[in-house]
Amino acid sequence: MSTTYLGHIFHVAGSPTVADAREHLASLPDGALVVSDAGTIEWIGAARDLPPTFDGASVVDNRGGYIVPGFVDAHLHFPQTYSTDSYGGGQLLEWLDNCIFPAESRLADPDFAERIARDFTRRRVAVGTTAAMVFGSAFPHAQDALFRTTRDAGLRVVSGRGIQTVGPESASALITGEAEALALVRDEIERWHAVDTGDAATARIQVAIVPRFSLSVTRETLRALGELYDEVRSSGVYFHSHLSENDSVVGGEIAAVKAVYETTSYLDTYDGRFLRGSEVGGSSLLGRRSIFAHAVHCTSAELSRLAETGSSIAHCPTSQQFLGSGTMPWKRTTDSGVTVALGSDVGAGDEWLISRVLNDAFKVHISEPDDASVSLHSAELLFTGTLAGARALDMEERFGNLDVGKDADFLLIDPERWEPLSMLLEGRVRSEDERADTERELFALLMGLREPAIAGVYVQGKRVVAPE
Ligand code: GUN
Ligand code: ZN
Repeated sequence: MSTTYLGHIFHVAGSPTVADAREHLASLPDGALVVSDAGTIEWIGAARDLPPTFDGASVVDNRGGYIVPGFVDAHLHFPQTYSTDSYGGGQLLEWLDNCIFPAESRLADPDFAERIARDFTRRRVAVGTTAAMVFGSAFPHAQDALFRTTRDAGLRVVSGRGIQTVGPESASALITGEAEALALVRDEIERWHAVDTGDAATARIQVAIVPRFSLSVTRETLRALGELYDEVRSSGVYFHSHLSENDSVVGGEIAAVKAVYETTSYLDTYDGRFLRGSEVGGSSLLGRRSIFAHAVHCTSAELSRLAETGSSIAHCPTSQQFLGSGTMPWKRTTDSGVTVALGSDVGAGDEWLISRVLNDAFKVHISEPDDASVSLHSAELLFTGTLAGARALDMEERFGNLDVGKDADFLLIDPERWEPLSMLLEGRVRSEDERADTERELFALLMGLREPAIAGVYVQGKRVVAPE
């Protein structure tokens, strides 16, 4: 039997670019979403237009509340679940050395790894992040705990162990030799990629190849990972890493990458051009299933190359503020045609809820200088936190909005569970113009949303259950 969910539905329908998101904003104040037993969307529209065929469906009444697509977090770190408090860390490279490498080394203890996997999954359920690209732990037992817990909860995940073959003393527990790194990645792919359905086209559990960043690997590692990716690309394996995040003058990441590799651009190191002068030394790691976190300081040539290869950016404004990494130029980046999804980047980002990260995106981009300043439209915000994430994960045909035929990945929001939100929605300034009022209402919902108001989280029509 199907199930009908009633409430005010907001989603970005169809398959627009961010520039067209506002024309694709669908708002159904007395909406109905019919979900089949198989967990796909059978029908969506105004409740009064529900076809009689669905008369027998069971009903979940969320009227007075909202139904939105599940949030997609395109970049967050599972081993940093307890690191959103990193005190005294400084900017990126210092922070890694002082706070993060020691924190991630704690996952060597299997009991600790189980605990952090459980808490990570609990956080994801609480904030309605139904799909995510998860930067993994160096330790295979911790990755096993992550995949197991995610699968049991019913969430989607793409993740891979963080690969480090070089690094400072503080990272020694996370570093392996080259051959071992390769063997561990192969093993992770064999044991976990599409393990739930046996087919990447339908799987909720998938694996990525994840070198931490160019500074934590060598040319030899990048060459070997390129060969491995050539082998496994066709089975739907992903690639994930950090790119052009921090250019602080003292110990900046970008200058360090260029000094070590002597390439003309940071991106070249991932693009097979990791030899001196950006000579080709191996296969490219770019492509439709490649997501690069940050890309704050990319050149236009780098952005064009990302766009042309179908690679995506996970934009992480909350984290960029925390580490003083700067502001990704919104207009220039999106104008290049590259897909820009959103990442919390927990733990440099201290906020798990994607709508809070969107709130930071709104603030930093309206504060960009002169012509670069942009006041993001509420539909663009919703798009970036949902459909763009599904596109970056190359799974747009499966989720990201509530179009008929897609998997039913959605959230029920009950403003009564969080008084500041219900106050805001009830007391907000209205517009006489219906369209403008709808856009304002969505803005209020996204800006005012907090965890307690998320009343239900669904993936493929099934209610997600947080681990005990
Ligand atoms: N670059 C390399 N590792 C990391 C990390 O853990 N977090 C962030 N924000 N950037 C990185
Ligand atoms: Zn990160």
